[in-house]
Amino acid sequence: MYSATLTIHSWVRWVALVAVVGATLAAVTGRVRGERSPADRWGLFAMTALDLQMLLGLLLYLAVSPNMHPILMNFGAAMKDPALRFWAVEHTATMFAAIVLAHAGRVLARKAATADAKRTRLIVCFGMATILIMLGMPWPGRPGGRPLFRVAQVLQNTPQFVIRLTQVIDDALCVTDHSAAHGRVARRDLESFLVESRPHGREVAGRFS
Ligand code: HEM
Repeated sequence: MYSATLTIHSWVRWVALVAVVGATLAAVTGRVRGERSPADRWGLFAMTALDLQMLLGLLLYLAVSPNMHPILMNFGAAMKDPALRFWAVEHTATMFAAIVLAHAGRVLARKAATADAKRTRLIVCFGMATILIMLGMPWPGRPGGRPLFRVAQVLQNTPQFVIRLTQVIDDALCVTDHSAAHGRVARRDLESFLVESRPHGREVAGRFS
């Protein structure tokens, strides 16, 4: 459940990003006339992709992510660490703001009295949503960064344990890239996560020390 949700969330990011850029560019180029203009259709596509991301993200944040559990349990401590703070607050806050702007953009565009007013409102709302999504994305190299393309899903047919191990290694590689300090934090979390979730987790965890 976790690996599938994270992998879908990871890939839908590209759909959402292309859709908000498409909506912004359609507005910039003035293709806004009529209810089913290119800007309206890109806007609907973006809103749908962002709503899906919000549902998957909330599922990860509140329920299925083993990475979020220690963060939510030690919120104060997580706020002191740039990588953990990114996942505790920054990612969700920026993405929420982007989703609200996309919805507001569509409503304001529908209510606009002229095509010019519609165009301006779409440029402002979807332009700002695009900037916020770029800021909230866990780009590789930033604290808490993640791979651009998550391939765990591709290994769907291999035994669950191999998929989980792939994912844990993925996460460990991603975190240790950024700083030894973070790596130490994450490795400790990974070890406890592995011990908790796998019968032979203690043996696997031993490989990380
Ligand atoms: C408000 C809604 C959102 C929430 C609550 C949310 C929450 C999360 C959480 C908790 C994770 C990490 C899960 C884990 O590592 O165990 C995550 C990962 C991620 N989120 Fe979101 N997210 C939201 C919206 C978005 C949006 C709109 C995008 C992009 C357009 C996005 C892109 C990503 C990416 C790329 C990852 C990393 C996936 C990976 O590790 O491969 N999120 N999100």
